[in-house]
Formats: sequence, C-alpha cells, structure tokens
Amino acid sequence: MRSQCPLPNFNHEPVMVEEVLAALKPETSGRFADVTVGGGGHAAAILAASSPSGWLFGCDRDGAAIEATEARLRPFEGRLELRQGNFADLAGWLEPGSCDGVLFDLGVSSPQLDRADRGFSFQQDGPLDMRMDTRQSLTAADLVNTATESELAKIFWNLGNEPQARRFAAAIAKDRVGRRFESTQQLASLIERLAPRRGKRVHPATRVFQALRMAVNDELGSLREGLTAGLRILKTGGRLAVITFHSVEDRVVKEFGQRLARGYTFTGDVDVPDLRQPCAPQLKWVQRKAIKPSMAELGRNPRSRSAQLRVMEKL
Ligand SMILES: C[S@@+](CC[C@H](N)C(=O)[O-])C[C@H]1O[C@@H](n2cnc3c(N)ncnc32)[C@H](O)[C@@H]1O
Repeated sequence: MRSQCPLPNFNHEPVMVEEVLAALKPETSGRFADVTVGGGGHAAAILAASSPSGWLFGCDRDGAAIEATEARLRPFEGRLELRQGNFADLAGWLEPGSCDGVLFDLGVSSPQLDRADRGFSFQQDGPLDMRMDTRQSLTAADLVNTATESELAKIFWNLGNEPQARRFAAAIAKDRVGRRFESTQQLASLIERLAPRRGKRVHPATRVFQALRMAVNDELGSLREGLTAGLRILKTGGRLAVITFHSVEDRVVKEFGQRLARGYTFTGDVDVPDLRQPCAPQLKWVQRKAIKPSMAELGRNPRSRSAQLRVMEKL
C-alpha cells in the first residue's frame, strides 16, 4: 500500500521537452514508454500531445519518483500505467512491437541529488547510499569499504574518467583501515584534501561520485539491456529517443546505434572488411549528430548543459 504521508516536493525540470516531442511525434492513437519517468515532466508532455487517447507506460527504479508521478499524472488517469522497476526488464512488461516511441532520460533527477538522505550529493552531508531503488541491498558505502583498491581504481577510471583514479583509490584504501566510510562528506573531503579545488568551478569529487553511483546501480549494464529491450518493444517505424548526460553513457548509446544500423556483423574487436557477415540493419539514425539543448534552455536550466539527445528509428 502507498503511504498516506504528504508527498515530498519532486521538482525536476525536464530537459529538451520540445526536442523529445519532435523526435517521438506523439499522435492520438500512439503508445509510448517513458522508461525513466522520474517526476513525470516528459510523460505529461507526451500524454498532453497525444490527447485524447494516446497511452503511456512509465517506469522508474525509484519508488519516490513513481509515487510523486502518480499524483502528478492523475489528470491522465486511464491512459497510463506506472511501475517501479529497472528498464532492463522492459521486455517482460510490454509486448514486442507494441510501442510507437520509447524515451530514456538517463542519470539522476534533481530531487535525488537534492535530498541529502539519498546520498548522491557531495554538496550536502548524508549517508553514502546512492541506491536508485532503495530495495536493493548494495550501497555506495558497501563498495567504498569492501572493494579492493584496484577495483575502486577501475570504477573511478572506467565510469568516471577520473585521471587520478589510482591515487584516490589508494588513499581510500589507506583511510578505511581505521574507520568505515559512512557519509558523503567523509569521502568528498578526503578527495578535496588530495585535489584541492583552488577556485575551480567543478568539485574535485564530481567524477568519483558519478562513478560510484554508476557502479552501485550497474547503470551501464542496465542501459545495454534496456536499449535492446526498448528496440524490441517498438513497432517498425517507431522511435527510440535517448538523453545522456556524460560521455561514458553516450558512448554506449552511440555504439548500440552504430552496431544495429550497420548492414553487417563481425566477430572479435576489430572490424576487418574481408571478414564481415552481411545482415539486415535493425534501425537507422534519425539524425547523425546528437541534439543539444537550445541557448534559451541552457539559460533557464543550467542542469541541462551536458544533455545530449540521440534518436533512432526501428526498421
Ligand atoms: C533525469 S531523471 C528523469 C526525469 C524525467 N524525464 C522527468 O521528466 O521528470 C532520470 C530518472 O531515471 C531513473 N533511472 C535511472 N536508471 C534507471 C533504470 N535502469 N531503470 C529505471 N529508471 C531508471 C532515475 O531513478 C531517475 O528518476
């Protein structure tokens, strides 16, 4: 049963709404999936644009997001289904070939970042948690306290592109001998001591926090499975729109699109022209280049600055 407590404020300003609508072209009879429904901003825009009978499935790993979105989308009751879960499981919830458009708006929402008790932010002190789905047992504290030094270095390098990955991992391994890491500030201040800010705009712990969040939530694994599932549930001619916020996740989206837009496969890591096996492409890019937020949006919503939208169409 849902709690009867007043809902926490769930203010998330959705990015590139106009561009998403232009990509998905919602029509009255359309069926859509917003698989990172968050605060419901994009979902509300899709439902409004596909009135009076367009239908939307929304999911999110975060139970608080689903609760807030249920309240926000009440005016569209009867045209929507919401579920808490990982979009990696999408193909088990919706029929293959049943949707006209699927939207992924990756990363975290503003309320997740702003609430200290969720443990995503180095700006405020909170438990070192970072779970999108709080029913999951692994937390960021578990990783920081139990992963080996080399595992931590790999996480910081591979998922955060952190140039000082090894140095930070070694310092954490040394520091945790006497005491467990329990709070976001404990970790953020260690990184700040190792790499003083000296007037830089970006906090030195930004990449470490991003990497830990991605590892705790297995974000790249979910993304690979989610994209495959998203394509599966699309009708022929349906559109897949994906918004990313950093190069690590954008690379996964680009590689997915490039692999399935090619008319051939190859085994191994190297594409040797003579060894290509022809196959039918499964999608095409709607636009070769990623779409970026407009200047007006950048002025209105600074959190949109790293957003990029890629759009593919199922063949
Ligand atoms: C940037 S926010 C989405 C905001 C939303 N588009 C809106 O208009 O409010 C990203 C959301 O994706 C969710 N999320 C991230 N990875 C997920 C996954 N694998 N499965 C389901 N939801 C996920 C997060 O919990 C977060 O609520």
